[in-house]
Amino acid sequence: MVSEWQNSTSSERLRQLVETVRMSRKYRSLYAGTIAYLGARELVLHSNLEEAVKATKRRLHQIAGMYLTGAAPYARWLAELRQARASGDEEQLRAVCRRVMSWHASTRERLDLLTTFYQPLLADLPPIRRVLDLACGFHPLALPWMPFFRAGETACYYYACDIYEDLASFLQAVLEVLGVPGEVTVCDIVQAPPDLTVDLAFVLKVLPCLEHIEPEAGLRLLRAIRARYLLVSFPGQSLGGGKRGMAAHHEARFRTLVADCGWRLERFSFPGELVFRIQKE
Ligand SMILES: C[S@@+](CC[C@H](N)C(=O)[O-])C[C@H]1O[C@@H](n2cnc3c(N)ncnc32)[C@H](O)[C@@H]1O
Repeated sequence: MVSEWQNSTSSERLRQLVETVRMSRKYRSLYAGTIAYLGARELVLHSNLEEAVKATKRRLHQIAGMYLTGAAPYARWLAELRQARASGDEEQLRAVCRRVMSWHASTRERLDLLTTFYQPLLADLPPIRRVLDLACGFHPLALPWMPFFRAGETACYYYACDIYEDLASFLQAVLEVLGVPGEVTVCDIVQAPPDLTVDLAFVLKVLPCLEHIEPEAGLRLLRAIRARYLLVSFPGQSLGGGKRGMAAHHEARFRTLVADCGWRLERFSFPGELVFRIQKE
């Protein structure tokens, strides 16, 4: 039987681990719940706290840290976005959004696709009024390229979430600048996906990250999302540009994963990104 003393010692060690990880600049605004979730497992594997901290940071790097270029100048970007929006020049606004998206490796890889990406994926769908962008990274900055975007009069409500607190506050302000009604929250989608019903969910380049945490997390998430349509994508190559055949590997795995779900699947291939459109009902 686990004694009260053992319980309180292990929760004290977990508290210390979370605090130590959050002391590093790279992870100080990362959701404590995610650090604790990963850290608790590392504490079981490593009796030494320092080793467990190192192992937790390695995991956090794999799922989130590796995509970021460094400390993001959120206040400066917001000022630039506000200025561009006030100018009324849509091209200027898009130019700033592109620059901001280049900060995050995942959206940076999509920059050349922006003008051709959303049309085939969204144009033939019934009206989209509620959108959920899961593990969004900087993707909400691509709103000006989405067919349902009209500056200041967008009819859809945009929910987005990720595990960085500073990113969520920045994106909330971005939605306001873009005139898009919506909410950006800090949420760990492995532990509990947002409890929402939407028309469309973006699950872009997310499943490989989640499966680093738990192999079953991907399918569990896809089943849990209450959306009529889901756009699930995979990177065509690794961040370093290597691993030919990566898209084929992801496709084979994904098709096996959802084979018994009875969902309608459509495949869209773009340079560097493979997208599946799932229709659940
Ligand atoms: C490969 S990026 C994809 C970003 C965005 N969806 C896109 O395609 O541009 C993975 C994102 O997942 C986020 N992430 C990782 N684990 C997460 C979790 N458990 N819950 C929520 N977000 C998570 C990371 O912070 C990162 O922004």
